[in-house]
Amino acid sequence: MSYENVIVENRENVQILYINRPKVLNALNEQTLLEIEAAVKSFAEDTNLSVLIITGSGDRAFVAGADIEAQYPLDAVQGRKWGLLGHRVFTLIETLEKPVIAAINGYALGGGCELAMACDIRLASEKAQLGQPEVTLGITPGYGGTQRLTRLVGPGKAKQLVFTGQRITAIEAHRIGLVDEVYPHETLLEEAIKMAQLIASNAPIAVRYSKVLINQSIQINNDMATTVEAGLFGLCFATQDQKEGMGAFLEKRKPVFQGK
Ligand code: CAA
Repeated sequence: MSYENVIVENRENVQILYINRPKVLNALNEQTLLEIEAAVKSFAEDTNLSVLIITGSGDRAFVAGADIEAQYPLDAVQGRKWGLLGHRVFTLIETLEKPVIAAINGYALGGGCELAMACDIRLASEKAQLGQPEVTLGITPGYGGTQRLTRLVGPGKAKQLVFTGQRITAIEAHRIGLVDEVYPHETLLEEAIKMAQLIASNAPIAVRYSKVLINQSIQINNDMATTVEAGLFGLCFATQDQKEGMGAFLEKRKPVFQGK
């Protein structure tokens, strides 16, 4: 499938998805969101691919937000539809049963910060700046910002970032738990690929179940979460990968996982 606003590149079993509208700092319009959705679905279905990295084209921006020119004329009904589209695409990423890494190579603002927060792990370049500037435009965050940001940094910091609309550096974002690692700008993608390959070398079903369980931890109570964790933990013992992983440890060799 060919895309206009995203580029897809495979490095063995790791896929890199570039958001590609560098002239507008990779701002998300409807077509871009639909192309991200199509690309993520196709990644999900490809059994040869294990980990997805999302990054921005050019060296200035990850994504500078939802496209302001596209949003300007919207009425209330269209605005709601616009919000629901972003939620649909970002929830797809969040709930995808394969790991997704955001490589934040520059501005991650508004919908861009929200896209990064829908990913499982956030790696940032030292040049990155993050923020939720929506209130400076007369709107609230619309693609999950009030929810995912609060879960990542707590309500106090989330309110500070959203109410002020100020941008913060990658270092500050790391300090408050909004990004997980910060790297020199030049090595960000390389580091993201390295981490993706490390994840891809582990047992795919166990990684998948772990993502499901960690995601559920914020939605269900502890008793329920414990029951679900025990269930998926138990299910791992029905996989060949469990016999391979533990067998390899006992035989003092490296495991070779098949995802079965
Ligand atoms: N939408 C549309 N176009 C955008 C854009 C956006 N979110 N962000 C940047 N652009 C465009 C600019 O209009 C400009 O286009 P022209 O060259 O045609 O003028 C081009 O990208 C380069 O941007 P700047 O000239 O502004 O670059 P700068 O270095 O001076 O500033 C910036 C960079 C601080 C990121 C600034 O562009 C900026 O503040 N952008 C908007 C950030 C923002 O408010 N994002 C939130 C959007 S609303 C949202 O996301 C809602 C939601 O939650 C769903």
